[in-house]
Amino acid sequence: MSGWVSDIRRLYGEYVNGYRVDGVLPPMMALKLHHTDMVVANAKAIIEGEGMDAETAEVCELAALLHDTGRYEQLRRYNTFRDSDSIDHAVFSHDIVREKGWLDGHPHKDAILNAVLFHNRRDVPDGLDPLTLAAAHCTRDADKLDIFRVLEDRVANTDWRNDNTAFWNLPVMAAPNREVLSAIREGRPVDYQNIKTLADFVLIQVGWIRGELHFGASRNLASIRGHLAFRRRFLAELTGNDPEVDELCCRQPLGEITLDDVNAELKNGSRVLLLVRHGERPKIDNEDPTFGEALPLTAEGLRTSREMGARLKEFAGDVQFLSSPLLRTVMTASGIAEGMGLHDVEIPTDILLGNDTFYCADQHEVFELFRDGNFFEKVFEYLDTGVQRGFRQITEATDALEEWALGKFTAKLGIFTTHDLYNAAFLHERGVKRDWCVSNWVRFLDSVAIILDEDGTRRYAFLRTGLSTGIVGVPNG
Ligand SMILES: [Fe+2]
Repeated sequence: MSGWVSDIRRLYGEYVNGYRVDGVLPPMMALKLHHTDMVVANAKAIIEGEGMDAETAEVCELAALLHDTGRYEQLRRYNTFRDSDSIDHAVFSHDIVREKGWLDGHPHKDAILNAVLFHNRRDVPDGLDPLTLAAAHCTRDADKLDIFRVLEDRVANTDWRNDNTAFWNLPVMAAPNREVLSAIREGRPVDYQNIKTLADFVLIQVGWIRGELHFGASRNLASIRGHLAFRRRFLAELTGNDPEVDELCCRQPLGEITLDDVNAELKNGSRVLLLVRHGERPKIDNEDPTFGEALPLTAEGLRTSREMGARLKEFAGDVQFLSSPLLRTVMTASGIAEGMGLHDVEIPTDILLGNDTFYCADQHEVFELFRDGNFFEKVFEYLDTGVQRGFRQITEATDALEEWALGKFTAKLGIFTTHDLYNAAFLHERGVKRDWCVSNWVRFLDSVAIILDEDGTRRYAFLRTGLSTGIVGVPNG
């Protein structure tokens, strides 16, 4: 623990002690103190999962510790935690921490204060520096993860079926508001005016899990802790097994996973479909309208493809291959098969994994788009806006690709070899990864993983195989 963290912890503890009566914190305040401890623990898990550097880690931890500082004084003055009946508790927390001067002299005082200030806003403002952005997102994710715990505790420990006050007098066994359902399905923010039933309230949290957790590490924590599965069961009870609600609870984005994780999922009984980017190939000429159709893998590309197969060998008895028809993807699938000990396997191909994919509406337009060499600029525009010259709308294309691919997939493990752009678009649309840049682009053999659980849940992850460091992003790479 850095000197700053231990100092601020001590100051915070002394401040909270000021609200004790005969040494005891009033119960509502004690809940907030416990919440803060849990948010700090979540922040540390995110820091570790994301591999943050020491400086970022300290800023994130301090922001988590201080995010709800104003809650004690809010309750003392107004006798409520409801901001709409009192004050904005994030502004209040920010102001108290600043006035106390606890962070005076800290090199990143403003980043910490701003992360506190923004923690309860619908969106983080644009234009923040990277450190403030990391701290703001970390605090918001850590806070949400603890709010999941609080709901689960309340369901377990109150008589909510009979006691309406457990959930603020919301009707308990009641259908959800259709407006809330469609907002969650479409990934739009929910207007809190539309929360009419307990199911609506729970659905908001389903929306957070599906699309509002910023860090992959946060999404992985939500998955490990079973937060979506809990809400799926709870909503089934509240809504009498409404199939539309169930459908919303069946899709969960994860963060990055490894080949060891894929093995573990398969051993645990799930099926896994990998949409694999091919192995290393030579650079493609921008003037080649076939996007390097006949380019073979490099020797390194073939070696690492075999290595990937060797790492999945245990499932050689129940694997299925499908490849884009380009030479490099066919060679990748063959290489993986060989690595699994499967020789002379015929690799079926489908143009829908290749140049004529769900994402590209017009190959010639796409060729023209990328011809001047600014592949990443055009692709990032597509990912951010969902539209691009020559491309189909990203959500429709992703839905179509997923349904088509799952329709083709019959084995326990699927190896479908394809191209980086489609992987990135899929992961972006499904909320798995949205902070794309050139340095974290899909590397050779990195994959989309669609994990199909026995209970019908679909989880989406980014498989970083770690077998290649190359990217060489060019048209339809
Ligand atoms: Fe808060």
